[in-house]
Amino acid sequence: MNDPNGLCFFKGEYHVFYQYSKEPQGGNKYWGHFKSRDLIHWQEAPIFLSPDKEYNKDGVYSGSALVQGEKLHLFYTGNVKEPGDHDYIYTGRQHNTVHVVSPDGERVASEEVLLYNKDYPEGLSCHVRDPKVFAYEGKYYMVLGARTKEDRGQVLLYASEDLEHWTHIRTFEILANFGYMWECPDLFEINGQWILMACPQGLPSSKYEFQNVYSCGYFLMQGDFRKDGYLTEYIEADFGFDFYAPQTFLQGERRLLLGWMGMPDADYKNPTAALGWQHCMSCFRELDFQKGRLIMKPAGEIASRITSRIPLGEDTGLQSIQVEEKTLDMVCRPLEENLQVRIFDTVQITYEKAKGEVVLGFLQGGYGRTERYCKCRELETIEIVTDASSVEIFINGGEKVMSTRMYPEHTEKIEIKGLVKGEIGVLSF
Ligand code: FRU
Repeated sequence: MNDPNGLCFFKGEYHVFYQYSKEPQGGNKYWGHFKSRDLIHWQEAPIFLSPDKEYNKDGVYSGSALVQGEKLHLFYTGNVKEPGDHDYIYTGRQHNTVHVVSPDGERVASEEVLLYNKDYPEGLSCHVRDPKVFAYEGKYYMVLGARTKEDRGQVLLYASEDLEHWTHIRTFEILANFGYMWECPDLFEINGQWILMACPQGLPSSKYEFQNVYSCGYFLMQGDFRKDGYLTEYIEADFGFDFYAPQTFLQGERRLLLGWMGMPDADYKNPTAALGWQHCMSCFRELDFQKGRLIMKPAGEIASRITSRIPLGEDTGLQSIQVEEKTLDMVCRPLEENLQVRIFDTVQITYEKAKGEVVLGFLQGGYGRTERYCKCRELETIEIVTDASSVEIFINGGEKVMSTRMYPEHTEKIEIKGLVKGEIGVLSF
């Protein structure tokens, strides 16, 4: 599996569609489907969309959902590779924007191609994909990720009155060279700030920036996105190994985000591929915007599963804590300048105030994952959410996050070096 798609809360249920392929190393893409009433218990639903049409035969690629009354509208990219000698970037590929209407999230009532490559603005390569649709002040808007013929990443903005006829109204880009393609855009307002999330590809990597092969982050938007709004700062959404193609949606007042815990074309591996499956999703994260940054916290439903709490002693600088579950939600505040946390026999998280960084590394079980760095002048709190093969590290109340897959052999202990105040919440599902 890869990207989450069509996230929504519809008729009392959460729906997670996702990029699904039948081969563990990736094959033709379907929309798989899970649903839940409480974000905790998930039920697998039948495959929702298959690459069985002329306009999507090489993949039902990523897209989004919009709830309108009793109907669920879904938008995706139909991927087609034409026969012949093509590079599939500048020639030979169709990326069709498709609209699906469903009464219940399981049946397709209608399906129609809205935009073909010929309908996109001039100057683009064949890569135009991942529609995210939303309603705002009486109109509908769609953002699409794009790559120009000159290999610049852009996001196209379309507007519609009826979800069927769409007009290109603007293109977002930045003047500096900032990658050749921006995948999976999402445009939303949070706490008074408009944010354009996207996954730019082709950014030069350095110690603290763009450490992964592809980046995943957000631009702050200044001004009205429909008129003169423009992109200012770009901030990375995650500093770990495995986080990509996130998507947000509204459930009542709260905006939730789900990301794919994977990274396309990474040189590290997941041993489960040999067993016939690969990858997972992050935990659901609740978003806010404070002090110029997107804040991501584990959705409250996670802490509601804490069945016991192990207090962390303040009086010893070295603790080895026995744990019986792999699902943990540990929150602590360092009382010294340095902190080291070892998760099972696998992940090591180190904060050194003098260096002003948090380092995520592996004792073993990283399958090619080395180290990732996150600048952090003052570590005030750290929250670590673990599952059987994943760790998500929320720094300073969710100002920065580091997410990674991990493959432990032994899972019976957590070790902490450095005085801390806090506790390990044991999660039961
Ligand atoms: C991101 C992505 C999307 C595309 C999908 C195909 O991981 O490349 O841009 O729609 O995956 O599976």
